Amino acid sequence: MVSWAITGATRGIGLGFVDNLSVDPKNQVFAIIRSRATAGPLEELAAKRKNIHIVVTEISDPKKLDQAAAEVSEVTGGSLDVLILNAGSAGPETSVLQPSAFRGKEEALEKEINENIKNNLLSNMFVINCFLDLVRNGKEKKIIFISSQSGDVEFTRITGFANVLGYSAAKAGMNLVISKYAAELAQDGIKTLSLSPGWVDTDAAKAVTGDPEVRKFVLTAFRKLNPNVNGPASVNESVTNQLQVIQSLTEATSGKFLTHHGNSDEWF
Ligand SMILES: NC(=O)c1ccc[n+]([C@@H]2O[C@H](COP(=O)([O-])OP(=O)(O)OC[C@H]3O[C@@H](n4cnc5c(N)ncnc54)[C@H](OP(=O)(O)O)[C@@H]3O)[C@@H](O)[C@H]2O)c1
Repeated sequence: MVSWAITGATRGIGLGFVDNLSVDPKNQVFAIIRSRATAGPLEELAAKRKNIHIVVTEISDPKKLDQAAAEVSEVTGGSLDVLILNAGSAGPETSVLQPSAFRGKEEALEKEINENIKNNLLSNMFVINCFLDLVRNGKEKKIIFISSQSGDVEFTRITGFANVLGYSAAKAGMNLVISKYAAELAQDGIKTLSLSPGWVDTDAAKAVTGDPEVRKFVLTAFRKLNPNVNGPASVNESVTNQLQVIQSLTEATSGKFLTHHGNSDEWF
């Protein structure tokens, strides 16, 4: 049995991980969610596959996370093999603004940065710290952060993509935090990784690039990096690639930020 916990498992990439992993009855899959309101498809899947366990919690609240970790522990006997920090969002509607457009909108800038740091960085640290003892007792000992290409300096330099400021800063910050955990936890045999999923066809992607004008703008930017990119990949394709990279994670690559192809520059 290999045990996996995935945050943000109601929809998109998170649900894709649950679906892909739970096909194998040797996997035990914990779908960590904040609410059942959007969990219809996950609940349908869990009704068919007994190796899926739904755990409702709040990733910004360490006390509730301790309870969630205890729920997982009860099923696994005190361990967790792989923790995937997938929950994330682009934050307030100001994410469309480029940095200098915040001049005179300092309150909005504070909100743009703070909300993203809370949701995409701090909460992930809370999750890691509350689940760490379980991971220590696991066989695989892997912590995976689903990051974003927009948190990469070279990606930003080449594409000229200047939007989603707070989200990108929080993802870049969390990439660094993940390498700090790698440095600290190497002595315990724990490996960490920041992983970009690519451009994936989910609600989140639709929210940012669903509008035809915005999509044209984004495609022009992305094609500076890869002239062949035509649109987002399917959840299944992204998750299949990501699982291969997670499989290949060793002490030698712990703490890195990699694409879903397992390298540092193939973002699509
Ligand atoms: N799609 C892409 O092209 C793309 C590209 C780069 C990186 N990513 C990253 O991939 C991850 C998954 O994104 P996605 O595209 O699958 O998005 P999605 O379809 O919008 O799903 C997001 C998931 O995260 C949960 N979530 C969001 N904010 C949360 C919060 N504050 N607390 C707890 N749960 C929260 C949502 O729960 P609810 O259902 O309750 O809202 C949902 O389960 C994110 O970290 C995102 O930044 C995606």
